[in-house]
Amino acid sequence: MSWVTIDSDRCDNCGICAIRCARCFTKGKEKISVQADENCCIVCGHCVSLCPTGAITHSRMDPDNFESVGTPVTYEPDSFMRFIRQRRSHRHFKGKAVSKAVIHQLIEAARYAPTGSNVQGVEIIVLEDDQRKKALSDLTIAFFAEAGLEAAEKLKTMSADLPAPTRLQLEKMARYRDTMMQAQSVGYDPIFHHAPVALLFHSLLETSTPKDNCVIASTTVGLFARTLGLECTYIGLLEIAARSYPPLAEALGLPEGHRVQSVLIAGYPRLNYLRVVDRNPIKVRWE
Ligand SMILES: Cc1cc2nc3c(=O)[nH]c(=O)nc-3n(C[C@H](O)[C@H](O)[C@H](O)COP(=O)(O)O)c2cc1C
Repeated sequence: MSWVTIDSDRCDNCGICAIRCARCFTKGKEKISVQADENCCIVCGHCVSLCPTGAITHSRMDPDNFESVGTPVTYEPDSFMRFIRQRRSHRHFKGKAVSKAVIHQLIEAARYAPTGSNVQGVEIIVLEDDQRKKALSDLTIAFFAEAGLEAAEKLKTMSADLPAPTRLQLEKMARYRDTMMQAQSVGYDPIFHHAPVALLFHSLLETSTPKDNCVIASTTVGLFARTLGLECTYIGLLEIAARSYPPLAEALGLPEGHRVQSVLIAGYPRLNYLRVVDRNPIKVRWE
């Protein structure tokens, strides 16, 4: 049984579906045949989207969700580049809450981000509750406190034998410990930075490209958020702690086999950056 069917009354045998997907579609002289199933089809929906006569339906997708693309949206390159360059990591936010409606819009943006093999396995934990954020932040800090102490010990006892990159990494961990504990001692949250909302992107580890899928989703959300007046920051610190510190992993209560792969905080920015910032040129090898 094929997941995809072609309405022969509508099909004009143009063959676009077979050009796009030679795995499932075969173009004959007079007729196109299709056998779409788990052996060839990743439910990408491209065949339905491309068909000029609307002859194709996919049993695993709701036809009502294939609304017309309409006039393609275009962006003026300079203004789009400015949009990219104006993005900053924001860690200071106004007290204004981010409404549920806005959060739903962010989630909707994540839904349309691409995933490896179209697995669509990205899940999101929305953290709004201040106490919950504090509990997870405290556990993250506890991890860095322990790891930083261990790093400082190692540096003391075996510094001379360590390769330079390892030493630098240990020094960084020891520094994290100091800055985090200092921040915590004055009531500052060095993990979520008192953002009104944090989004934890997680995925089953045993799937296609779980990390990429989550980072692409969070990046899509982070850029889209800017159109709503929100600004974001990735929080890799929580992600590191979540994969290394069982008490935090337990507190997160992820589904079996899942791992947090990307974290964003979001809110209405308190600071207004007046200049774009300089960045190193990308090292490129042209071939
Ligand atoms: C993968 C990743 C993880 C990050 N983790 C943190 C973090 O845990 N805490 C934080 O305050 N900033 C974090 N940042 C923000 C970076 O410090 C920031 O992107 C960098 O300094 C460049 O500044 P910009 O984003 O304004 O260009 C992270 C950024 C990335 C891309």
